[in-house]
Amino acid sequence: MRDVSAPLDMTVLALETSCDETAVAILRGRDRHSGPPIGRTRPAASSELLASEVASQIAAHAKYGGIVPEIASRNHLVHAPQLLERAVRDAKIDMPEVDAFAATSGPGLASSLMIGASVAKGLAIGFGKPYLAINHLEGHLLSPFFGDGELKPNVSLIVSGGHTMSIRVHGLGNYQLIGRTVDDAAGEAFDKVGKMLGLGYPGGPEIEKRARAGDPGRFDLPRSMVDSENFSFSGLKTAVRYLLPKLHRDFLADLCASFQQAVVDVLVTKTIAAARKYDVDLVTMSGGVSCNAELRRQLDDACAREGFEFKSAEPWLCTDNAAMIAFAALLRSQAGFESELTEEIDPNLALVQRDEAHNQSGSLRRPSGCDSL
Ligand code: KG4
Ligand code: ZN
Repeated sequence: MRDVSAPLDMTVLALETSCDETAVAILRGRDRHSGPPIGRTRPAASSELLASEVASQIAAHAKYGGIVPEIASRNHLVHAPQLLERAVRDAKIDMPEVDAFAATSGPGLASSLMIGASVAKGLAIGFGKPYLAINHLEGHLLSPFFGDGELKPNVSLIVSGGHTMSIRVHGLGNYQLIGRTVDDAAGEAFDKVGKMLGLGYPGGPEIEKRARAGDPGRFDLPRSMVDSENFSFSGLKTAVRYLLPKLHRDFLADLCASFQQAVVDVLVTKTIAAARKYDVDLVTMSGGVSCNAELRRQLDDACAREGFEFKSAEPWLCTDNAAMIAFAALLRSQAGFESELTEEIDPNLALVQRDEAHNQSGSLRRPSGCDSL
């Protein structure tokens, strides 16, 4: 472990290959900061994104109706070297100028994670620089702070295709699980309902598009587990499945709007309840579903009414990308974290180890591993 006085003006190159998107980003930290440290985390610097490349594989998987892991990893192998070359060219730097190499080490598909991690480790060995294994969920979690980097304690909602969780963020690597989905993730529910309605993949943007012209009050769909800190979306999905055969014409926009509103109601209600209970000033939101304009607007309004500051990841940072991984790696590098080259990928890597992750010292002991996050 390096000393926590690592330079703030460092350049990080990160790869993200956890699922079906290949992404490479180069981020430079700048030594311009103010404010007191949070716990043992130093005040963050601002950063400048030098390059961010994403190659989507949606078309390659579309005909199979879902992600085929072998196709995903073969595509990562083809795309990663091309994106690397393009990123370095766009950033106008030479590879030896990179101070640390990072990759998503989980959660995700094992055969996909392996590609990004192997490339980053190879570069770290080749150029004699540190390697950082980054948790994909931490990438999402920190993305609302992208750019300014001043990480403040907050209650955070992560809503993606694979995860729905609310987290109390005390500082870098110091996270406490508040609640998570007990079945489908919010994005998964959007995708499954989109499929039922014969819309394209991913379902989220397709449903949002139709919902704009619809009446969110027309269909009375369930809001599950409202009194719990956990989430559940499979009952909502099933309600749509049973309702569908009874509908015949002119229902699509209203059904999309009613479904979307049911998801938004649950996410907003639980996030506000958590922010009140844990007495924070700030609420943050990230992950693919946070692209949804109605969710952003309604959570923003609810936070304003309740007196919470609200920060959402910018739309381009919500879906999977390497800039958020580079940002997490930059903050971790600046705080003195570094991973072992022997650190393995972990398809089930947890952000918070059960409910005992409120563990300040543990967060600095072993960076980016299953034990500490
Ligand atoms: O974060 P992400 O790119 O991948 C995971 O880490 O899972 O999230 C993808 C998910 C998909 O389920 C997609 O349907 C959903 O984000 N999504 C949306 C919107 N854009 C993407 N859901 C609702 N409204 C959107 N506009
Ligand atoms: Zn994601």
